[in-house]
Amino acid sequence: MFQNLQNKTVLVTGGAGFIGSNLCEILLDNNIKTVCLDNFSTGKRKNIEPFLSNPDFKLIEGDIRNLADCKTACNNVDYILHEAALGSVPRSINDPITTNDVNVSGFLNMLVAAKDAKVKRFVYAASSSTYGDHEALPKVEDVIGKPLSPYAITKYVNELYGDIFQKSYGLDTIGLRYFNVFGKRQDPDGAYAAVIPLFVKQFINKESPIINGDGSYSRDFTYIDNVVQMNILALTTTNQEALNTVYNVAYGDRTTLLQLATILKNNLSEFDASIQDIDIKHRDNRVGDIPHSLASIEKAKKLLNYNPKFDINNGIKEAVKWYWKNL
Ligand SMILES: NC(=O)c1ccc[n+]([C@@H]2O[C@H](COP(=O)([O-])OP(=O)(O)OC[C@H]3O[C@@H](n4cnc5c(N)ncnc54)[C@H](O)[C@@H]3O)[C@@H](O)[C@H]2O)c1
Repeated sequence: MFQNLQNKTVLVTGGAGFIGSNLCEILLDNNIKTVCLDNFSTGKRKNIEPFLSNPDFKLIEGDIRNLADCKTACNNVDYILHEAALGSVPRSINDPITTNDVNVSGFLNMLVAAKDAKVKRFVYAASSSTYGDHEALPKVEDVIGKPLSPYAITKYVNELYGDIFQKSYGLDTIGLRYFNVFGKRQDPDGAYAAVIPLFVKQFINKESPIINGDGSYSRDFTYIDNVVQMNILALTTTNQEALNTVYNVAYGDRTTLLQLATILKNNLSEFDASIQDIDIKHRDNRVGDIPHSLASIEKAKKLLNYNPKFDINNGIKEAVKWYWKNL
């Protein structure tokens, strides 16, 4: 998979974040020159600390809202994995202006910098939130509903810009609609923490996790290694038909919040048996949350040979092992 990247340079924006740092790691493990652009707004220095001594790694501390920073980062770069954004539906509801500045204006800056630098391919983090109020399952790339949050709007606008930059300037783009990604280095702290790291930390601290709603809402939880695989496939594919489109990135199965809590409990109680006795609490559903999410991954399988290796159980096992050691 990495042959096409030999002697090439890949820019990972948001490389100090959860997904970005995992992408930097796999690139460096395969001796690919890697540039990370990050402003550390939600990313962590400790996520990239092990890379700093690697001569193939370069950190540029900068902000995608600043075109000059984007241009500096794109200098002599062959490929881009664009992960930098402000995630979280509730954050976007609390502060839609900052979410839009980063996720839309920042995205546009990156596209302009990429085209000016004649970058070969721009692969970017899109989102399953783009399916919005469309209820049919599984979600198929061609059929979307109306966005349910400012965050979802920004991610949909990214797709529209990705398409237009191919048509207007010939920049090849691929959008990856991630479905609830989880795994090592995902931040368990802060008001906008994702459910898996949050619940893991609460169980480890012997606190009751709180499920929004009755726990019947379901998600296609996707382990980070599947997401990494998809990014590398998107970056390296030689199939011209596979370019300039968007893909679901998921496992293709769904798990309810109650099932998730049980899986986490079972895995964590192997480290501390008393975790089995912790109660789960409930509160009202959150504004902007969709009830169910499940991806069709047929398009990625067909055009990119995507073959996700980790289901929820294997993925949670790995994630929990990491959190137990690192929290
Ligand atoms: N984690 C998920 O389940 C999920 C699902 C769908 C989409 N996504 C998308 O995947 C991408 C990565 O998400 P993540 O979960 O790793 O989040 P994260 O918050 O861990 O990583 C985002 C990174 O971007 C950086 N960043 C934010 N604003 C920036 C700016 N203005 N300039 C430069 N850097 C900036 C942050 O410091 C951070 O390192 C995002 O685009 C997110 O919207 C994630």
